Amino acid sequence: MNDLLLRACRGEATARKPVWIMRQAGRYLPEYRAVRAGHTFLEMCKTPELAAAVTVQPVDILGVDAAIQFADILLPLEAMGAQLHFEEGRGPVFERPVREPADVAALRRPDVDRELGYVFAAIRQVKDALQGRVPLIGFGGTPWTLAAYLVEGGGSKHFSHLMGWSWSDPEGLRQLLDRIAEVSIDYLAGQIAAGAQAVQLFDSWGGLLSAPRWREISRPSLQRVLEALSDRAPLIYYVNGGAHLLEAMRDLPVQALSVDWRVPLPEVRQRVGPAICLQGNLDPTALLSSVEVIREQAERLVRETAGPHIVNLGHGILPTTPVENARAFVDAVHATTA
Ligand code: CP3
Repeated sequence: MNDLLLRACRGEATARKPVWIMRQAGRYLPEYRAVRAGHTFLEMCKTPELAAAVTVQPVDILGVDAAIQFADILLPLEAMGAQLHFEEGRGPVFERPVREPADVAALRRPDVDRELGYVFAAIRQVKDALQGRVPLIGFGGTPWTLAAYLVEGGGSKHFSHLMGWSWSDPEGLRQLLDRIAEVSIDYLAGQIAAGAQAVQLFDSWGGLLSAPRWREISRPSLQRVLEALSDRAPLIYYVNGGAHLLEAMRDLPVQALSVDWRVPLPEVRQRVGPAICLQGNLDPTALLSSVEVIREQAERLVRETAGPHIVNLGHGILPTTPVENARAFVDAVHATTA
């Protein structure tokens, strides 16, 4: 089997660098849109045959070195009792946002096998379909990023409810983060038990807090999740907008640190040390250019980054990306040896 990604996570030298693309199972692929045309997004997540089929698509179409399970970070919040739906063109919506201690108390600790067993079933189907061709990555959101959606009731520009709460009642907010952490541990352990060979935690809004407040408010619940899983599978922590947090994050119990494109990886490497595996970090909008530009940028990224490295974008691939450009990125990484 192609275990380049798992070996990079362990810090081993590999003949070439592994590459995959965040949000690789998604709308930029005509094959995804064909499956999606007949179903809502949540139906796809909850139907193991459909979720498994779109998970494998980018492995066949792009030749990436890992699959990532098709699902969503918000599913465990629904299992905790929050009513979730996705609106076309607007994204996720929670009808009744969680904004005070009584709302936190009303959340459930679900039996993940019963409430989220559809994800575990999809993982087992993907493993059957992949036949060991590439490793399968499971994933979840960090407690902070999940709370951001739950407290706002969806996406937001300023996250004013979340940030306001973090100042007025940090202890109350930490209790929400802890409740989400305990469910995340059960959910991610379930993904690993079903066959996920590595786990990525998405902290899409991890950069909202200053470094001292990140340490105080966001880190404890994150650390709890990571520590509970660290002897089960390699862990990848992705943070968006976290350039000011690199020193604060470098001793997290993870194998790999995944960052956005705003800081070049050689500088990230200097700031976090030689041992940890880095993941990233081409600007996703670079894939809107030409095959020549993409090839040049991919080669640069591979050559300039020292130490263990999983090549990826700095955030999810944009739905308007031409498939041939995504393939050019993967091919260019495969053709380049550092
Ligand atoms: O990477 C993959 O291919 C695996 C699947 C995956 C999805 N969401 C499928 C999806 C993963 C890893 C995610 C993570 C996720 N979900 C994050 C963290 C990553 C990031 O981008 O920062 C977040 C914040 C979410 C929550 C979420 N889900 C939002 C805000 C949206 C709407 C925005 C959008 O892109 O439409 C979604 C919907 C979603 N999740 C889609 C997919 C393929 C699009 C749904 C569709 O087909 O209409």
